[in-house]
Amino acid sequence: MTRVQDVDSFLEEYSSRTLLRFTTVGSVDDGKSTLIGRLLHETKNIFTDQLASLQGASKMNVGGAPIDYALVTDGLKAEREQGITIDVAYRYFSTPKRNFIIADTPGHVQYTRNMATGASTANVAIILIDAANGVLTQTRRHSFIASLLGIPRLLICVNKMDLVDYSQDAFDAIVEDYTNFATRLGIVDLKFIPISALAGDNVVKPSPKMPWHEGGSVLNYLETVYVGSDRNLVDFRFPVQYVIRPDANFRGFAGQIASGRIRKGEPVMILPSRRRSTVKSIVTFDGELEEAYPSQSVTITLEDEVDISRGDMIVRPNNVPMVEDHFEAMVVWMDETTMDTKRRYVIKLGTQEARVTVHQLRYCVDVDTLSRGESEGLELNEIGRVAFRSTKPLFFDAYRLNRLTGCFVLIDDATNATVAAGMIIQRNPSEELSTAEAAGKERNIHVHAGKVSGAERETRLGQRGLTFWFTGLSGSGKSTIAAAFERYLFDEGFLPYRLDGDNLRVGLNADLGFSRYDRRENIRRVSHVSKLFNDSGVVVLASLISPFIDERQAAREAVGTDRFVEVHVHAPLEVCEERDPKGLYKKARKGEIENFTGVTDEYEAPTNPQLSLDTSVLTVEQCVARLADEFDQRRNP
Ligand code: ADX
Repeated sequence: MTRVQDVDSFLEEYSSRTLLRFTTVGSVDDGKSTLIGRLLHETKNIFTDQLASLQGASKMNVGGAPIDYALVTDGLKAEREQGITIDVAYRYFSTPKRNFIIADTPGHVQYTRNMATGASTANVAIILIDAANGVLTQTRRHSFIASLLGIPRLLICVNKMDLVDYSQDAFDAIVEDYTNFATRLGIVDLKFIPISALAGDNVVKPSPKMPWHEGGSVLNYLETVYVGSDRNLVDFRFPVQYVIRPDANFRGFAGQIASGRIRKGEPVMILPSRRRSTVKSIVTFDGELEEAYPSQSVTITLEDEVDISRGDMIVRPNNVPMVEDHFEAMVVWMDETTMDTKRRYVIKLGTQEARVTVHQLRYCVDVDTLSRGESEGLELNEIGRVAFRSTKPLFFDAYRLNRLTGCFVLIDDATNATVAAGMIIQRNPSEELSTAEAAGKERNIHVHAGKVSGAERETRLGQRGLTFWFTGLSGSGKSTIAAAFERYLFDEGFLPYRLDGDNLRVGLNADLGFSRYDRRENIRRVSHVSKLFNDSGVVVLASLISPFIDERQAAREAVGTDRFVEVHVHAPLEVCEERDPKGLYKKARKGEIENFTGVTDEYEAPTNPQLSLDTSVLTVEQCVARLADEFDQRRNP
């Protein structure tokens, strides 16, 4: 392969395959390197070096400015910029079915640190267990970290089966032992394969020595496991890595899409300035795109002259990350020096940088028993939950929603050492009361926390408290769709509850009419009721005209952005008017009703709802199917 000429064809073929990232976890003797060595060797991989050479060979020009020509490597670069890839060697390999990136963390003493740094984007973690030794403390520790890191699935390779005569009983005993432990961690996606990395059994090809195992080989699993749903396509986050300004005519913002999709012409908001603009174009090395997806490296240009610098983030105006100067995180301490709760550390969160202090070390976790203990300061390899205060507001997401925008590292600026890796925790609504709580205190109101957490309630119900907020004109079909979706969710075993504008106006909101003020109060009440329901773990389907953008935004903030799904139910006004299920359009036209939305009062359509359902085209069933998809992406507690 002559390098430069073939780059395009190589990349074309390469990029048409799906990508799987995995990490291997195990102690030095478990056979990690042997396993990887075998995989690389037996799949006859030739790509490692070629990819490295591509990096040098493939610079390109957009408006004269150099952008790295990078497909796979850019993602890694983003991680490297965050400083989270220390001690991690990446390897690439391909088979005709898939491309693979292995984050290979060397297995010396600081295994915790290595794992935390190498695993943040992995789809799969391979855990190696020595068949002769069974499940060890270290295995439990690694598994705990894997679950903490939100790695969606674990492949447990019971290695050295040759040393136990390929015995099925030995394998089954380990499977049982491990499953008991993993269940307590809440890890559900487990796959077990008995292997001998040294002899090559079940690594690439199924082994004739273990005919009792019908689960295929390691490679077979890696090639076929479905990872499509790992991507967050909902919450658009674009951290700006470079501002590109080759001449007066071109000004673009380059970076990699961390999550969500974006289309040309869509409105965006820039953080932290909160300025708004519209996407003018999405530029890549092979021309312009109509739409871009997670992990694509693109250059975005905007319609307006907006001041943006490196470290800013482009998001959607109605789906912004949290912007806070205090937050909580699970922290893996990675330094010999114990955490000092009295000093400041430098935090690097994506492309942002600030200083933080430890406000409180809530608890540390004993990874062997999973119990919580008290601690004065985390020590090397210890894991704990920490509340931080930052010197300036940072924008971020909960790690479980967005692994890229929810993780950070702490740096000791005296030594420049990376001392910790952290994963931001989603605050449950009762915790979010803190600001309101402070305001309440001034009025002599003291919020009383209960002893049952939102997370516990969600676990019991097996669902996440979410609010689907249906907005649209009278007669657009909100109530019909919400009712059908409620039936669907209930039949699927979930617990939904409908809050219907009309119904609530009979009771809770009986004192309200349809002035702007009353509608605002209506939305305010229903959003707080939704929040309470969500806190209790219930899925709310709120259907209200809710005609104003600002009020819906306030509802989103009251409920919490990550739980709020805005659904625009719409049909042309003529269609709604023709349906006129309650005869109200007729009355409004005759002047018998004032302020009727769509006739004598305004409806501000959402510019960027999570879901847009055109009921003049879609059937109720089709709408429910779309909602079900949306629900599936967010449902897990
Ligand atoms: S909202 O605007 O405050 O969100 P909401 O959804 O609670 O409205 O209530 C709307 C329902 O009230 C309509 O479905 C309709 O049945 C009834 N209604 C009565 N008068 C009006 C009006 N002037 N405008 C809109 N809806 C009205």
